[in-house]
Amino acid sequence: MHLQSLVLLAAASLARAETHDRHDARQTAPAGPEAWTAAYAKASTALAKMSQSDKINIVTGVGWDKGPCVGNTPAIGSIGYPQLCLQDGPLGVRFGTGSNAFTPGIQAGSTWDVELIRQRGAYIGAEARGCGVHNILGPAVGPMGKHPDGGRNWEGFGADPYLQGVAAAATIEGIQSAGVQSTVKHFIGNEQELNRETMSSTIDDRTIHELYLWPFAEAVRSNVASVMCSYNKVNGTWACENDKILNGLLKNELGFPGYVVSDWNAQHTTNGAALGGMDMTMPGSDYSGKSILWGGQLSQAVSSNQVSKARLDDMAKRILAAWYLLKQDSGFPRINIKASVQGNHKENIRAVARDGIVLLKNSGILPLKKPGRLAVIGSSAVVNPKGANACVDRGCNTGALGMGWGSGTTEYPYFVAPYDAIKTRAQSDGTTVTLQNSDSTSGVQSVASGADAAIVFITANSGEGYITTEGVAGDRPNLDPWHNGNQLVQAVAQASQNVIVVVHSTGPIVLETIQALPGVKAIVWAGLPSQENGNALVDVLYGLVSPSGKLPYTIGKSRNDYGIKVSTGNDNFSEGLYIDYRHFDKENITPRYEFGFGLSYTNFTFSDISITSTAKAGPATGAVAPGGRADLFDTVATVTATITNSGAVLGAEVPQLYLTLPASAPSAPPKQLRGFVKLKLAPGASGTATFNLRRKDLSYWDTRLQNWVVPSGSFGVGVGASSRDIRLTGTLTA
Ligand SMILES: *[C@@H]1O[C@H](CO)[C@@H](O)[C@H](O)[C@H]1NC(C)=O
Ligand SMILES: *[C@@H]1O[C@H](CO)[C@@H](O)[C@H](O)[C@H]1NC(C)=O
Ligand SMILES: *[C@@H]1O[C@H](CO)[C@@H](O)[C@H](O)[C@H]1NC(C)=O
Repeated sequence: MHLQSLVLLAAASLARAETHDRHDARQTAPAGPEAWTAAYAKASTALAKMSQSDKINIVTGVGWDKGPCVGNTPAIGSIGYPQLCLQDGPLGVRFGTGSNAFTPGIQAGSTWDVELIRQRGAYIGAEARGCGVHNILGPAVGPMGKHPDGGRNWEGFGADPYLQGVAAAATIEGIQSAGVQSTVKHFIGNEQELNRETMSSTIDDRTIHELYLWPFAEAVRSNVASVMCSYNKVNGTWACENDKILNGLLKNELGFPGYVVSDWNAQHTTNGAALGGMDMTMPGSDYSGKSILWGGQLSQAVSSNQVSKARLDDMAKRILAAWYLLKQDSGFPRINIKASVQGNHKENIRAVARDGIVLLKNSGILPLKKPGRLAVIGSSAVVNPKGANACVDRGCNTGALGMGWGSGTTEYPYFVAPYDAIKTRAQSDGTTVTLQNSDSTSGVQSVASGADAAIVFITANSGEGYITTEGVAGDRPNLDPWHNGNQLVQAVAQASQNVIVVVHSTGPIVLETIQALPGVKAIVWAGLPSQENGNALVDVLYGLVSPSGKLPYTIGKSRNDYGIKVSTGNDNFSEGLYIDYRHFDKENITPRYEFGFGLSYTNFTFSDISITSTAKAGPATGAVAPGGRADLFDTVATVTATITNSGAVLGAEVPQLYLTLPASAPSAPPKQLRGFVKLKLAPGASGTATFNLRRKDLSYWDTRLQNWVVPSGSFGVGVGASSRDIRLTGTLTA
């Protein structure tokens, strides 16, 4: 492995072309392989000064609950290497008291705004650095969200590999621009909470490449420092000792130069993990502190040659190289998880919370204009009466919802609930607000009747399986709103013809009952807005901004329409490529609201599609660089379209490009997302959406050639306002 890695790195730097065109969604150039080459040179120098016990220390956590961070390794004085701090998680510094609770990944994904996502990453990185956190454990791109009810889907960016890939890359580049290591997780096939620590995910070769590995490849291309292996088995072998996925896919095929860190307590054997490609064990012991699989045990394995010295050197070198890559060898702040680091970052939290709101239905009731009386109804309109952080790791569904639950949460520094923000706005408008802060249907009619608008709040929650909330042990048991939300909306709609339903949810809810009520005039999909919940909502309800979020998953008419179930045993991923909209499209099932859908307060027209292409059929031939063969990232076709704001107010549209592979390709989803741009346009203004398609975007994974191949023939190009609202079409030929 050691030698192989060196050869790969050398090849990577040789293969480093001038500059590759990148997809327009990516505007900051990744540091590039030569940055790793320099970091590796420093790592080699440091390694030469390290004893075997130093090397064992750098790869072994100090043990559960034995350091200032959720993960720690001992300092190595001889090389000036610090006690390394690894801390959750994807929403910022977990357990911080002076830090922010950033918006969950799913909200960031539903903005489809790469610059906001990049800024979110940069701010998470800045806060981590301010707290002395060397490695922040995010972003999450696994689960991908193949199960609409998967407990942790909300930590990632949406049920599509391309969207996840673009968002993960921007997040990682943002975090690492602050000099903090980013860990992308969970590698791989960890799509559900049920049995996640015992089950095996058997994923066929094409599906793993085209869906689950895709965002990890983008992360590696963005020079992510580390990858976290997951709890589950893959094809019967634990992910953290799976030679085929760690050494094979990640390190060889994707040329990953960083280190693989275990999920907490996901390591099972001493030698298996070392030989399988894991590089750091966390937290270093089991949760009782008794069982330690590396440390002394790894030392013995190396002394007895069961694990080569070269493999141990390779582990240490990868960890050191990541540290040097982020320039953490000079001026890094000391560890203080409680440091005051908030800055002005709440502006990004509000912007992501707001621009991630998806307007699903509006028959003219929105935006609100100085209503005389508003009724505000539902337990989630107000902050948890016991305090926003009353439940450990947000493991309850009491009060307003801002994130799911589990280790991927943070503490809220403050929480603006919907009622707080609506009340403030109402005061300045002279609006009377009547509140019912419970989900009870009795008495709700007197609150709602006669109001200019009755705003009903409903939720659905989920999280990590170590916490059970109201009987839900991670994955959701159904796609219904909690607390009898359908009945609550029905009761309100009996009393009022001016009902606005606001949904805060970790994933799709079946909306058919609500949709059928004539009194429901608007449905606002407010997602998971974290601490700026109410402010973001008021911005949209009152038209301070036009809503511009788009669904990062499909909202089906029934749970069964998704054609897939959380597995009670192992999962063979028999649905293959057909998850979320790929499944609905293939089976010709009409969803209630499709992937990519979202309304605004204005209208956009699409015109003038233009396609230029130099694409040539055939396999990729480039040398491996971080992310995969270098030529996979060359732009081979460019599509442009004109988008015009033909309505009356400022707004933003997300034109999306979907590609259909030619008939010569093995059977593939009818269409797949391969580009998107967010354009902010004044009324009457036009903008150009430019989609740069890379060789990989046009390719399928050929299982025989073990390579990405551009199929020959005519590709269908569709540009639209959602996955089912294609406004412009064309073709390109390879
Ligand atoms: C897992 O098994 C499937 C089918 O049995 C195969 O296509 C795939 O390549 C295997 N993947 C790994 C990583 O071993
Ligand atoms: C995969 O699992 C499904 C459901 O358990 C089963 O119907 C199918 O036959 C399995 N496929 C394979 C290839 O094992
Ligand atoms: C958008 O267009 C539709 C019909 O094409 C029209 O009914 C509606 O009023 C327009 N909305 C705005 C905000 O211009």
